[in-house]
Amino acid sequence: RTAPILAPSLLSSDFSRLGEELEALQSAGLEWVHWDVMDGMFVPNITLGPPIIKKLRKRSNLFFDVHLMIEQPERYLEAFADAGSDMLVVHAEASIHLERTVSEIKRLGMKAGVALNPHTPLDHVHYLLPELDMVLIMSVNPGFGGQSFIPFTLDKVRELAREVTRRGLSTLIQMDGGVSVNNAEELIAAGADVLVSGSDFFGHPPYPERYQTFRRAMDK
Ligand code: DX5
Ligand code: ZN
Repeated sequence: RTAPILAPSLLSSDFSRLGEELEALQSAGLEWVHWDVMDGMFVPNITLGPPIIKKLRKRSNLFFDVHLMIEQPERYLEAFADAGSDMLVVHAEASIHLERTVSEIKRLGMKAGVALNPHTPLDHVHYLLPELDMVLIMSVNPGFGGQSFIPFTLDKVRELAREVTRRGLSTLIQMDGGVSVNNAEELIAAGADVLVSGSDFFGHPPYPERYQTFRRAMDK
């Protein structure tokens, strides 16, 4: 098992200073950053898209983990590849031909992930699992930062972790929504490999100290 990863969600950062925020994350020792792309259809909120990611790609060597909360993500795979995304995560609920979408993401040279809303059964990724670099188990209904963690999603993580091990796969398990220094240890123990944190990370500067606090909880 790889060392757990923290991916701060820029949704809670200062959008007027995205370049500086990315630099601050990197000098705080982080390796991943999580981008939340919302289209106002799949989720009620609208955020940002490929042109902004592309501009900021030049300012950062962080691993760009791009979470697409958009309908029919297959329409934009090339644009996100061109913008410099390292990992593209699409929602199972938003893409009818999910296998085709996943192969296309990999053909474009990116790592591929699939996200499941809290109530979506794990069955949706059962056959695709060997093709996936990551499965994102949503622990809130996507759309906004600062929502409370939905406890039953922990059972999904435990079940998925067992399945990944049973099949000898290296698929990463990510959790996103309501993650904090207070539940990080429990989520890692349940089998999560990558934790996304928005409000609890950005709401408690300075970033180097906050990252170390997360690390201590995650490495227990
Ligand atoms: C929710 C987004 C998350 C969000 C998490 O729709 O996918 O990435 O930023 O925010 P917190 O950590 O505040 O729940
Ligand atoms: Zn997200």
